[in-house]
Amino acid sequence: MFDFKPDTQAGKADLYRDLHSAADALTSGEPDGVANMANVAALLGDFLPDCNWTGFYRMVGGELVLGPFAGRPACIRIPLGVGVCGVAAKTGETQLVEDVHAFPGHIACDARSRSELVVPIKRDSAVVGVIDLDSPDLARFDAEDQAGIEALAVLLADKV
Ligand code: SME
Repeated sequence: MFDFKPDTQAGKADLYRDLHSAADALTSGEPDGVANMANVAALLGDFLPDCNWTGFYRMVGGELVLGPFAGRPACIRIPLGVGVCGVAAKTGETQLVEDVHAFPGHIACDARSRSELVVPIKRDSAVVGVIDLDSPDLARFDAEDQAGIEALAVLLADKV
């Protein structure tokens, strides 16, 4: 049995340190990318407060395809350059969006989502997928979240 519990009193630095160590332990030695994404999506949902969707989209045949996640059912395919995920995948740059309603082309998979953080996962500098976090709160994510999820994307690059 796995028993990785977030310390709900911890600050973000400690929370991300614990999240990285749990993600590393869960994926260590496991070659199956889907299994690894599934466990990390569940960890993200458990560790990050005030998120309604935490998960992955994978680059498949030149578009993003839904991967493992925690949350409500979501859009299955997203063209590159469309929506927050599609822009992150096309540019290779993190998208930190305080208000999704102000983001041109935002795709509303879950009407509750108000802010979003999308971080590309790169292997040999090519985008192989993205980590997508959605929150029902405006401006839920900040630079510390961005740094924490970018470090997670590096940790996962060879495991998904
Ligand atoms: N809102 C995203 C789509 C994915 S869902 O949030 C899970 C976007 O605009 O890319």
